[in-house]
Amino acid sequence: MVCLGNVCRSPLAEGILKDKVKKAGLKWYIDSAGTNGYQPGCPPHQSSQNIAKNYGIDIGKHQCRHFTKEDIDEFDKIYVMDDENYNDVRKICSHTWSEEKVEFLLNEVYPGENRIVPDPWFGGEDDFTEVYELIDKACEVIVKKYALADAAKTEAL
Ligand code: 4NP
Repeated sequence: MVCLGNVCRSPLAEGILKDKVKKAGLKWYIDSAGTNGYQPGCPPHQSSQNIAKNYGIDIGKHQCRHFTKEDIDEFDKIYVMDDENYNDVRKICSHTWSEEKVEFLLNEVYPGENRIVPDPWFGGEDDFTEVYELIDKACEVIVKKYALADAAKTEAL
């Protein structure tokens, strides 16, 4: 899960997806990162922590980090929140860019529309709630889609 600062949207996306994956009994490795120079090691934005906590998800231990060019090899799928993140990831991974791996998160709900999860950095609690709901919807689709694919693969073995 990738956003700009790795303090508002992507730590929330990491927490929500981890929660759904755990509840579905899946064993996926999930992480998040930011494309800009926000101080590595800092915790998620307090409003992201608060909204997550309202849904029983603790993201307080996350330490923000930078997205690196190695991440594109490390992960099967890279989800970005908006156009800026998409372009940043493409720049950072210029030699290993993979069109299929990098996707707008909301394309899981609205395929091909490249809708964005808006940056709530200058917003209030309502903006963080909207962000939570958008991410939650997308993560629900991801778990259903890939869990079914995993099950089909296991059955075929
Ligand atoms: P995020 O939000 O990309 O969702 O983590 C932001 C965090 C920090 C800044 C901007 C957006 N910033 O300008 O420091």
